[in-house]
Amino acid sequence: MCGIIGVIGTGQAAPLVLDGLRRLEYRGYDSAGIATLVNGHIERRRAEGKLVNLADALSQKPLAGTIGIGHTRWATHGAPTEVNAHPHGTARVAVVHNGIIENHAELRAELEAKGQVFTTETDTETVAQLVDLFLQNGLEPIAAASAAFARLEGAYALALIFAGHPELIIGVQRGAPLAIGFGEEAMYLGSDAMALAPLTRRIAYLEDGDWVVLSRQSAAFFNRDDQPVKREIKLTNLTGAAIGKGNFRHFMEKELHEHPVVIGDVLHKMIDQSSKMLVLPEFPFALESISRITISACGSAFYAGLTGRFWLESLAGIAADADVASEFRYRAPPLDANGLGLLVSQSGETADTLAALRYMKSRSQKVLSILNVPESSMARESDAILETIAGPEIGVASTKAFTAQLTVLAVLALGIARARGALTDTQIAALTDALLEIPAKAAQILINDAPIRALAARIAEARDVLYLGRGACFPIALEGALKLKETSYIHAEAYAAGELKHGPIALIDKAMPVIAIAPSGPLFEKTASNLQEAAARGGQIIVFSDAAGAAKLEKIAAETIIIPDIDPFAAPILYAIPVQMLAYHVAILKGTDVDQPRNLAKSVTVE
Ligand code: M6R
Repeated sequence: MCGIIGVIGTGQAAPLVLDGLRRLEYRGYDSAGIATLVNGHIERRRAEGKLVNLADALSQKPLAGTIGIGHTRWATHGAPTEVNAHPHGTARVAVVHNGIIENHAELRAELEAKGQVFTTETDTETVAQLVDLFLQNGLEPIAAASAAFARLEGAYALALIFAGHPELIIGVQRGAPLAIGFGEEAMYLGSDAMALAPLTRRIAYLEDGDWVVLSRQSAAFFNRDDQPVKREIKLTNLTGAAIGKGNFRHFMEKELHEHPVVIGDVLHKMIDQSSKMLVLPEFPFALESISRITISACGSAFYAGLTGRFWLESLAGIAADADVASEFRYRAPPLDANGLGLLVSQSGETADTLAALRYMKSRSQKVLSILNVPESSMARESDAILETIAGPEIGVASTKAFTAQLTVLAVLALGIARARGALTDTQIAALTDALLEIPAKAAQILINDAPIRALAARIAEARDVLYLGRGACFPIALEGALKLKETSYIHAEAYAAGELKHGPIALIDKAMPVIAIAPSGPLFEKTASNLQEAAARGGQIIVFSDAAGAAKLEKIAAETIIIPDIDPFAAPILYAIPVQMLAYHVAILKGTDVDQPRNLAKSVTVE
């Protein structure tokens, strides 16, 4: 989603800002722009589409100046055109914005009535026009910005520069994050520390409600009540090295190939390899005293959470609920006094998941988050975190972060089972053994990808695809359908296999591929019966199973993808991999923008 960067230094700002925008590209965007001060005047270059277009615009008409702000825009209000691209502004002020100004229509009407002339359809321009009016009324930039922030409603982060003030950037965080970087004779501001990593390792994070006044040498922080506050400078471990694709064509392909290493790293961290004992951190709450677990997340992270719920209930015997974060808090669910809130997020910035976290905290839950970005907003607001240590995930479609989330959840479920005495040490050791088999089997799947590529050719022809699964593999069916939709734009739905006969079976005809995630295990026979029902109605049955399962379904399967044998407990993690690979290969055949599919953002920072 939108990315913000700001630079004040002694050298040319525009190249640094453009570089920072490149590091924010992964968030997803459809236009971009930069503003600097040239001899005290605001100058802008903006372009529709990818950063290469902005780079072209800059090479044709370079931007001088030692102060600049830049933006990658994921359109919310107004089409992704050059006119609507940020920075927005007037002759007095330029603004970049991530989030939504909810009261923009009302502000716009008020400002137009006072003579301000708008040139775009964006909510962001209301910020520029509001600040501009305060400046015209005689306020200095800092006072004008603060007065404007007090009028804005919504969840947003902003950065502003002012004509005639070559040493001033003002930033604000209200619901969307901002990081401040401290350099030598230079200060920076960015949507995340990753954007700033090549510039400095010294980072301070705004707390929600904060705003900051940057000069070339300092940062002054203020809270929501305009009181001066101190924010700690931390040394980030993020590397400034460019994140590349290696020898792969796409980030998604590279990240798919990282599954074995990432799963192995998580297991290595959470399981003592010699004793097979679980290694969980000291939590600031006792696992055995938790009465109920409430899981919330979005998209793939939610599907990981659904699988986690299955493990928590069936192995640890603890009551667990799971809900998509965009719905969760609006139900105002009552939560147990000794409840644990469990959030799952790759980015740690997803607005709905963050809001769910805050709701849980407001209802006295202890909050544990499973995160891939330990320097994220959710990390800062949680009581404890478990890191998925998957490394930066750049492809918009989540791959390795998903299996890392599943792996962390599997070990956590075993840890809670141990704390509650729901499983014996011997049972836990057998289950950890099953997990430890995953990396090698994942590598086998990645190496022997020919059957998946062949299947992709069939799926690429389909208009609609059904995915079926049961138990802990139902969320993997959901993951398969989501991955196919988002990367290849083919309509896909997932159902718990037993639900088929309650409606979706009406969709089945000869043109409908029905993909079953069906490892051998306690639920295999039930899934097999459901597949028989689909086959009897002419559906093209495609089976993801082990050799024994595939043999049993041989008569009805149009195609079979054989997955190495695995214990049913670990199967969801292993089966997620071929399901994601299928989506990738279909997308390649469809010729879509695999790493940045249309309309999508990596980090969804609006509700
Ligand atoms: O950063 P998060 O894990 O919180 O993101 C959640 C979803 O936006 C994300 O999983 C999304 O569904 C992916 N595009 C799925 O591939």
